[in-house]
Amino acid sequence: MRMVDLIIKKREGHALTREEIAFWIDGYVNGVIPDYQVSAMNMAILFKGMTEEEVINLTDLMEHSGETLDLSNLRGVKVDKHSTGGVGDKTSLVLGPMVAACGATFAKLSGRGLGHTGGTLDKLESIPGLTIQVNGDRFINQVNKIGIAIAGQTQSLVPADKKMYALRDVTGTVESIPLIAASVMSKKLAAGTDAILLDVTLGNGAFMKDINQARILAKLMVKIGNGLKRDTRAVLSNMDEPLGLAVGNALEVKEAIAALHGEGPEDLMELCYIAGAIMLEQAHICKDYEHGRKMLEECIKDGSAFNKFLEMVEAQGGDVSYILHPEKFAVAKNIVPIYAKEEGYVKAIDALEIGLSSMTLGGGRETLDDVIDMAAGIMLNKKVGDYVKEGEVLCYLHSNKNVTLINRVAKNVADSFKICKGFVEKPKVVLEVIQ
Ligand code: URA
Repeated sequence: MRMVDLIIKKREGHALTREEIAFWIDGYVNGVIPDYQVSAMNMAILFKGMTEEEVINLTDLMEHSGETLDLSNLRGVKVDKHSTGGVGDKTSLVLGPMVAACGATFAKLSGRGLGHTGGTLDKLESIPGLTIQVNGDRFINQVNKIGIAIAGQTQSLVPADKKMYALRDVTGTVESIPLIAASVMSKKLAAGTDAILLDVTLGNGAFMKDINQARILAKLMVKIGNGLKRDTRAVLSNMDEPLGLAVGNALEVKEAIAALHGEGPEDLMELCYIAGAIMLEQAHICKDYEHGRKMLEECIKDGSAFNKFLEMVEAQGGDVSYILHPEKFAVAKNIVPIYAKEEGYVKAIDALEIGLSSMTLGGGRETLDDVIDMAAGIMLNKKVGDYVKEGEVLCYLHSNKNVTLINRVAKNVADSFKICKGFVEKPKVVLEVIQ
């Protein structure tokens, strides 16, 4: 078999057999097939697509390209959650402790942020002392003891995705439904939980820009997961504006702490209640969705969700005084307000531009080697549907960079807010549930 023939076959729109996909994935992981051929294959897939059978084979072969986790020593139904990426998406930091406080077993492996999207691991690492290297027995023991761990993926888990995702990121091939489905599901399946809740983000800050595409992706992933006997469900969530008000690592952790006290922004709270109630159903902890939602509201009110977050931070070596006193988090030297130039309703906030601007201010990384400034980011003061007066603050830029750079970013951020005279309704955060 030759890789070039497989690329041509896909370029001509034909389906690859399991043996052919295995030849490609094994050869790539073993260093026999070079990046440039895999780039060409990914581009052919982006244009020509894959059949469901091809995606299932690709997912399975990627999942088994390295080690898989055995969570059979963990008690209860193990639940996991995965978002396809967004701006200001700190959901796991709130949702994980919430469902764990209600008795679910939340065993999650997370990733780092790249480009305009943030990553849960980076956010967690803004808590001094906290480690995300919770591997093997330590992971199992922590989850058995307190019901929750959020750890970094080890290098040996799904090596095919590690190589391929980095390559897709620099070759314009991230936005392919079969490739996203195989990438996400291979990692979720290798991580070994019984149930998976997928948050498929949709809008200009997400990889899926259109609801039909997001629905196709969600249905495909749900089918792959259920086909392999994992209870898999999905929500389609709005990423046309950032989620919540905070974008940037320490800023988002502070917002997550507020949310765990019941004081988070409306859209973040709603997403956590809806996704959480579905997860409690998946974990067989509640009678139905309404019951699950009540349990979650209760765990916020009685402080048990916040206490669960404290327990997790402590178990992972973090300094809990930051969680008890969030004002201790380092604050950026420059906090620059962006003012509204006109009065009216906020019609749109370009999530992609806000994510890219936060990255330029120091809050994200362009390449995996970049060092993040945990204090940097953007705090929104207005969301879509809010009324704003001329001269009111739309958002604040937080940065330790020089003033010239901040001024350049300020212009882009100001332009990312669209204001109109007519009434604008607040958008729903969860657009659809797929199960
Ligand atoms: N998230 C992933 O894990 N993989 C993708 O391909 C896209 C988003």
